Amino acid sequence: PWSEKVKTLLANMQLHEKIGQLCQVSGNEGHVSDDLANQIRQGWVGSVINEVDPKTLQHLQHIAINESRLGIPLLIGRDVIHGFKTIFPIPLGQAASWSADLVEQAAAIAAQEASSIGINWTFAPMIDISRDPRWGRIAESLGEDPYLCSVLGAAMVRGFQGEQMSSGKNLAACAKHFAGYGASESGRDYATTNIPENELRNIYLPPFKVAAEAGVATFMSSFSDLDGVPASGNKWLMTEVLRDEWQFQGFVVSDWESIFQLQIHGLTANAKESALLAFDAGIDMEMVSNTYRNHLIELLDAKHIDIEQINVSVAKILTLKEQLGLFDNPELCSDLIPAFYHPDHLAVAKELATKSCVLLQNQNHCLPIDKHNIKNVALIGPLANDGYEQLGTWIFDGEPQHSITLLDAMREECGDAVTINYQAGMSHSRSHSTELFDPAIEAAQQSDVIVLCLGEEAILSGEAHCRADIDLPGNQTQLIDILSKLGKPIVMVLMAGRPLTIETVLPKVDSILYAWHPGTMAGPAISDLLFGNTSPSGKTPVTFPRKVGQIPIYYNQKHSGKPPTEAQCIYIDDIPQRSPQTSLGMAATHLDTHFSPLFEFGFGLSYSEFRYSELQLNQRQILPTDSLTLSFLLKNHGQYDAEEVVQVYIRDLVGSVTRPVKELKRFRRIKLAAGEQQQVTFTLTADDLAFYNRQMKLQSEAGHFHIWVGGSSACTLKQEFELLHD
Ligand code: IFM
Repeated sequence: PWSEKVKTLLANMQLHEKIGQLCQVSGNEGHVSDDLANQIRQGWVGSVINEVDPKTLQHLQHIAINESRLGIPLLIGRDVIHGFKTIFPIPLGQAASWSADLVEQAAAIAAQEASSIGINWTFAPMIDISRDPRWGRIAESLGEDPYLCSVLGAAMVRGFQGEQMSSGKNLAACAKHFAGYGASESGRDYATTNIPENELRNIYLPPFKVAAEAGVATFMSSFSDLDGVPASGNKWLMTEVLRDEWQFQGFVVSDWESIFQLQIHGLTANAKESALLAFDAGIDMEMVSNTYRNHLIELLDAKHIDIEQINVSVAKILTLKEQLGLFDNPELCSDLIPAFYHPDHLAVAKELATKSCVLLQNQNHCLPIDKHNIKNVALIGPLANDGYEQLGTWIFDGEPQHSITLLDAMREECGDAVTINYQAGMSHSRSHSTELFDPAIEAAQQSDVIVLCLGEEAILSGEAHCRADIDLPGNQTQLIDILSKLGKPIVMVLMAGRPLTIETVLPKVDSILYAWHPGTMAGPAISDLLFGNTSPSGKTPVTFPRKVGQIPIYYNQKHSGKPPTEAQCIYIDDIPQRSPQTSLGMAATHLDTHFSPLFEFGFGLSYSEFRYSELQLNQRQILPTDSLTLSFLLKNHGQYDAEEVVQVYIRDLVGSVTRPVKELKRFRRIKLAAGEQQQVTFTLTADDLAFYNRQMKLQSEAGHFHIWVGGSSACTLKQEFELLHD
């Protein structure tokens, strides 16, 4: 399947030059060391990671193209995760937009900015299903649902790679981390995962399969141990599933030193065994560690691997270089015209940030704030005026000086008419000091409304930044307690890299707008929502637990043989709890909290009110070859023009393996003017009802299904249909 160019190169390559293509090395951050230059000249380097100085990148490519024997250009890899210079919301925030279109646009802009300085490969999208908010990398994920994650992951792939990767404005994408990383025990990064194959195939693998179908150029192996075999040495995963079943044609890169780590896992006795295991498993390129460089020749000589295997890996890497146009697009490493912070980029960043914000609570219609009826706003909280923290995790190249903060934006919005009295209240979000409380309380006392901007700093989420306690950090709750006693309306804006456990805070504030980490344009996006220039429309892509002990908690759980019911609850101080009165008839829940989450998957309020009615199916019985069309009426019953994310869920009532209580199957953003209504239609086929059965075969099973539509996973408007046998 290789091109003439690739075949000719392969035919002319010496063995070490072939192995060199399988090696990715770290750059020297802003200069080219003699050692790196020599390695490239000699053909020992296929890719460089973490070099972003444009001149240095030019220099590196120049050496590869002009000073190495075969002139093979380098893949230049970088973690362009949610923007390069223009920073978009963290991926979890992007997922809250439920907008494949905006997510694709954001990835395309990130690609354009990054490629303008010579980067050609990003390590995104991260499509690990994440059901544990203690895990710091949930911030980088697209949430807990296989379908939402698949749709948005594929959108990112399209955005990064474009129609033609050779356009000079695109990046090769990388589906990571294959696979199961999100299930790390107790949310500790890099910890073991134990995922039965059926759950792996039904929950964790679908977004990767969809990414492969969307043409993602590369995959990255996970750091994690999957049921005893760490991913970087897992032949079943890398070869049987990815290549043989899914026919993935691109190449697989290991995660950072994860081949070397096979020894640390205790799977191999030394680096040579690690190289053998990983290469044999199907890892084509090694990121940063040197086991391939040091041992593949030896392993070949000893006939543990064969040259054909090496040729295939090299050919796949050369093919990507060719697809990126690196062989015949020398201007990629000549006149550089950076394309940072273009107004169009900032406009998309603002729109995506706006649509990512989730309105969790709005008591007394506290929001939107009517700026014509107030004189003083107390804006309190360290996150309201910090251009860095609002960018979130994984922003190696973001520049806080380009951020617009909430303080900047509210002042701009209100002009002289309203005083925005800003007080940090705390030096940073984790502070345990009360030293800055007094000026904040004073500002609050003088205000008509308090806007509290709290949550987590960027450093509290991301790789290796996991938390055992996911309450508001530091002294934030104490500050909220004090302010809540002033009798003023309180709007709380929360920035965070995960859903936090905020149950106890709900009664103390009127409104809660969950903004995740919104990126460069956080300020204008949030300010627009606070003042009602636009209505909130984000929906949470993860379940909010009431208490950390409920984790993992997710909407598409199994029913169990003893599902809890509302009747079993007692209420203590208005807090629903399970009755501890009886030792029999217990259900699958905790004694000391309600079985429901604090906010369910798909939830998010609007300033308007959407009503769903008249759900109809085109037929009650379908054959496997039929389509099922459902339609319903969506009406904007409120006073505001607004957007709603309509969601379609199903339940397969009886399966050869037990089925989740609800599964998302479709969604769409719909904009309606106040009072407007629309007939909404979706179509499903039997393929949408399929799941992996006990024999690990993907198929739908005849039987009865429930189907719901609504504005969250707790929707109740339901119909029933039957899938018949052929
Ligand atoms: O892309 C990342 C990966 O997600 C975690 N380890 C390092 C890689 C490259 O920086």
